[in-house]
Amino acid sequence: MPNGGLYAKIPARRGRTSRPEPAPASCPRVPNLEIASRARCTVDDVGRNFDGWALDGRSERMEQEHGKTVVGFLQGVRFRRPFEFLDVGCGNGWLVRRAAGMKGCTRAVGIDKSANMIQLASSLAGPKEEFFRTGLEEWSGGPFDYAFSMEAIYYSPSVGAAVSSVYSLLRKGGTFFCGTDYYGENTATAGWPKRCGMEMQLLSEEEWRAAFRGAGFRVSSRRVTDPRGRAAWRREMGTLFITGKKPS
Ligand SMILES: C[S@@+](CC[C@H](N)C(=O)[O-])C[C@H]1O[C@@H](n2cnc3c(N)ncnc32)[C@H](O)[C@@H]1O
Repeated sequence: MPNGGLYAKIPARRGRTSRPEPAPASCPRVPNLEIASRARCTVDDVGRNFDGWALDGRSERMEQEHGKTVVGFLQGVRFRRPFEFLDVGCGNGWLVRRAAGMKGCTRAVGIDKSANMIQLASSLAGPKEEFFRTGLEEWSGGPFDYAFSMEAIYYSPSVGAAVSSVYSLLRKGGTFFCGTDYYGENTATAGWPKRCGMEMQLLSEEEWRAAFRGAGFRVSSRRVTDPRGRAAWRREMGTLFITGKKPS
C-alpha cells in the first residue's frame, strides 16, 4: 500500500459509535476538492471527481475499509485455475494486486475512469497486472474468467447497462462479483449522493438481482458484515455482494 508523502494515509479513527453516521469510506468529506463546492455532478464527471481521491489519501482509505468485507467475501470463493481477472472501477488497484497474487491467476486487469487512479495503480503494478483508463461501457477488453467491482457500478446512469457490459467481457462460465454498501435496505447510506455530490443509482437487493438476471446471469447474493466496523451499518447490514454466473 502506498504510504506517506503524496499519498499520505488518513489515520484510523478510534472508538465505536453508531451516531452520527461517519463519512463512508468511499465518500469522506474533503473540503479542498472542486466537487465539495457543487451540489451535484453528472456521471461524466465521475472520473474527474475521483482524480482528487487518488491524491488525498482516500484511495487508501477505500482500500482499508472496502478490503475488510471484500476479503471476507473472497475467502468463501473457490477460484478455478488458471484464471484471468478484471476489476471494474479499480481505484488504486489494490484488488488487482491481490488477485494477481492468487494461485492460478495469469493476468489481472484494472479499469477506471479516473486518470489519477490509473496512474497510481500503474505505478504499483507487478508483471501480471495491467491498468487502463476507460469507462466500463466503452471498453472491449477481455475475455475474463472473473470480474469484480466494488462500489463502482452504481455510478453508471443505468446499472442494467453496466452489468450487461461486464457480462460481455466474461467468458462463458465466467463469474461477476459485485459489492455495494449503497443499497436500498441499507438506509444509513441513503444520504451518500448528497454528501458526495455525485449521482448514484439506489437499488434494493432484489433490484440488483433483477439487473443481473436481465443481463443473462444466474444470480445469488449475500451480505458480509464487519463485526469490528465503527458504523452500526457495517456491523449489522454489511456489504451486499451480488454474484452473477454467465451460463457455459
Ligand atoms: C468508490 S471508488 C471504489 C474504488 C475501488 N473499487 C475500491 O474499492 O477501492 C469508485 C471507482 O470507480 C470508478 N468508476 C465509476 N464508474 C466507472 C465506470 N463506469 N467505468 C470505470 N470506472 C468507473 C471511479 O472512477 C472510482 O475510481
